[in-house]
Amino acid sequence: MDIVNKKLKKFVDALPIPEILKPLRKDKDESYYKVQMTEFRQKLHRDLRPTRLWGYNGQFPGPVIDVQRGEPTHVKWENKLPDKHFLPIDKSFHNLGELPEVRTVTHLHGSESKPESDGYPEAWYTRNFRDTGPQFKNKVYHYPNHQRGATLWYHDHAMGITRLNVYAGLAGMYIIRDEQEKWLNLPSEEYEIPLIMMDRSFHDNGELFYPSQPDDPQENWPDPSIRPFFIGETNLVNGKIWPYVEVEPRKYRFRILNAANTRTYQLFLDSGQSFYQIGSDGGLMRKTVKLDNLAVEPAERFDVIIDFSKHEGETVTLKNDLGPDADPNDETDDVMQFKVTLPLKSVDRSRVPRYLTRIPSLSENKVQRIRNLKLVGSTDKLGRPLLLLDNKKWMDPVTETPELGSTEIWSLINVTNFTHPIHIHLIQFQIVDRQSFDLDRYNQDGTIIFTGSAKPPHPNEKSWKDTVAAPAGQITRVIARFGPFPGDYVWHCHILEHEDYDMMRPMKVIETDKWE
Ligand code: C2O
Ligand code: CU
Ligand code: CU
Repeated sequence: MDIVNKKLKKFVDALPIPEILKPLRKDKDESYYKVQMTEFRQKLHRDLRPTRLWGYNGQFPGPVIDVQRGEPTHVKWENKLPDKHFLPIDKSFHNLGELPEVRTVTHLHGSESKPESDGYPEAWYTRNFRDTGPQFKNKVYHYPNHQRGATLWYHDHAMGITRLNVYAGLAGMYIIRDEQEKWLNLPSEEYEIPLIMMDRSFHDNGELFYPSQPDDPQENWPDPSIRPFFIGETNLVNGKIWPYVEVEPRKYRFRILNAANTRTYQLFLDSGQSFYQIGSDGGLMRKTVKLDNLAVEPAERFDVIIDFSKHEGETVTLKNDLGPDADPNDETDDVMQFKVTLPLKSVDRSRVPRYLTRIPSLSENKVQRIRNLKLVGSTDKLGRPLLLLDNKKWMDPVTETPELGSTEIWSLINVTNFTHPIHIHLIQFQIVDRQSFDLDRYNQDGTIIFTGSAKPPHPNEKSWKDTVAAPAGQITRVIARFGPFPGDYVWHCHILEHEDYDMMRPMKVIETDKWE
């Protein structure tokens, strides 16, 4: 593999701050945006030639869409991409060989929107809407933004090639702001910074590298053949490899998003200082949680405050704990640097409030249904790893059909050997608990023997979530009220290699007047 990153110097590029997208029109009823997916080149590191990318409006990551709660938006996501993909597409599953090679559909992750604007994987379309998928419904997406203020993100969701479209660069942040937050006096304006993290590998010539096969391919496997995971050799934040940012000795708010395909970040600061977590996927938490390290699974968002006031003149490195078995040559134990070199412009009057917001507990709701859903590993007919939800494939008929307005508990029973970040569209859920069972025993005879009592979620998970870590050998239970819209959505593992093959299932919210 001709990978170049070992030569790439760390912390030589300034952290880019993604630009905020301006609406084409804005009146009292709505804001209208147009976003074009295009191919372009962008410099990702001082010593790397500009890299070919696909992104939204010629930016990687895409521009930030920043709206007020209750301000409805329309977005026309236009595909202006070439007809050929530049990453290796495995066409051996989902009849991909019969479909146009370059297909896109944008999903706003964490959004409560109607099915026709949710970016259903089969609602894909090609350049200028020339070809459209079987579920294609409309050209302009509508987001009500009626939900709580939160950090959402948009990314591609085309069936069978999401991992490649997102890897090529199709991802960006979307912020819903709530007036209520102003009272909290959090760090804001230039002191509020998105940190969109992801990992990538590169060829010597600066082009993105994505292997065309798994690491140990068998002879009968096609080339390209989908991989069960991908871990990049460099870390990027906001589109730069190992960047640095100059900060003042004061408090900053960082909206952290893990936009990587597979990688989980285990963040900590080498200064030994703590993070103050104020928000999760679904917005502000009840109370601020002080943390020394922060696990961020793919697609999760963490809203944190870091206080640099005691570190004037110092350099603080944001590290990624690779664990005790890490390869000593692995460079991805670094993420970025904060250089506390800017003079304090004015007295920092922002706060780290102890109490943030009220969140009703769903456990008081009447539960209409409990679903036991296994996360399982198997193999396909070529002997390749195949990951499934409840032993069903994407193409199998829908089985998760909650009634509109009803409350359900989903028990995610992970009988594989690794954590899967499970994401459900449309709703925000709460984590009920996690309980360990004997995985070896399960693998012998299929029985589940608990090895401990059910544990409540971590303090920093006690909030609204749309993506949850479901660890191996545990049952992770989440509770949600399904609404506010009926129709066709999906749920899936957010490791994009798993989502594509084949850890994604349809979910149909069934209309009924029973629970309204
Ligand atoms: Cu972030 Cu269905 O996705
Ligand atoms: Cu989503
Ligand atoms: Cu998974």
